[in-house]
Amino acid sequence: MEYKKVALVTGAYKGLGFEWCRQLAAMGYRVVLTARNPQQAEEAASALNKDTTLVLGKALGVTDETQLAGLAAWVKEEFGHIDLIVNNAGVNPKDYTDKSRMAAAFYLDQLTAAEMLEVIHINSIAPLLVVKHFRTLLAASPAPVVINISSWLGSVSQLGFGGHYGYVGSKNLLNVLNKSMAAEIRKDNIISVNVNPGWVQTDMGGPKAQFTTTQAVAQLIENVLLKLTPQHSGLFLNYDGSEHPW
Ligand SMILES: NC(=O)c1ccc[n+]([C@@H]2O[C@H](COP(=O)([O-])OP(=O)(O)OC[C@H]3O[C@@H](n4cnc5c(N)ncnc54)[C@H](OP(=O)(O)O)[C@@H]3O)[C@@H](O)[C@H]2O)c1
Repeated sequence: MEYKKVALVTGAYKGLGFEWCRQLAAMGYRVVLTARNPQQAEEAASALNKDTTLVLGKALGVTDETQLAGLAAWVKEEFGHIDLIVNNAGVNPKDYTDKSRMAAAFYLDQLTAAEMLEVIHINSIAPLLVVKHFRTLLAASPAPVVINISSWLGSVSQLGFGGHYGYVGSKNLLNVLNKSMAAEIRKDNIISVNVNPGWVQTDMGGPKAQFTTTQAVAQLIENVLLKLTPQHSGLFLNYDGSEHPW
């Protein structure tokens, strides 16, 4: 029987996640397109299935372990393995419409632990929770890969401005957590890397950003996904495939 390559993408009804699903389906992957709103997941999958029938829309809030367990059970039943996880879902408090909430993870004088922890829960911890629930399915793949979408804003050595605590802190934490996770899951042959996609035209990146989503994902596929070796696991890579400064 023909082996079906399966990918899971989080936060994927729009932006970079949606484009990951489009390009992975074009490569022949069966794609599980997830979004926390089930209707948005289904509509996005339908839009992509105009050209293919390879995309399945599923509900997933990445901090919800009950949903993660349920989705992993469904993937096990449907495919028995998973080859690629793109941990894409993320929040940037600068985009919150409620500016007092934004300030609680942005400005020192308005900072709250609750808002900081919420951003860290989504951006730093949830990618590990996803791998926790899909680890045995990844281990059932002949060449399993996890790509965590980080950011240059998580780079300590490049940080040149103040504030923005929730986002910079959470992406920096994601980088170090992945380095540790990658070392643990190496025994299952799972390669797990963090990537900086560059500045990309999405709701988060805004219209003036350097890259379209099509360009950004194509670069990540060509320069990172298709070139990965076990030696890359745990690294923080730039969209051109080079190592990103920590
Ligand atoms: N655009 C850039 O320039 C840039 C640069 C560096 C890194 N990144 C990273 O790239 C990733 C994708 O961002 P984007 O630029 O494509 O922005 P986007 O269009 O705002 O997409 C973010 C996605 O994450 C989802 N999400 C947020 N919290 C979630 C949760 N708890 N569970 C499930 N999904 C959740 C959002 O869904 P909802 O609508 O339901 O919230 C949305 O689909 C993020 O991790 C971001 O930090 C982006």
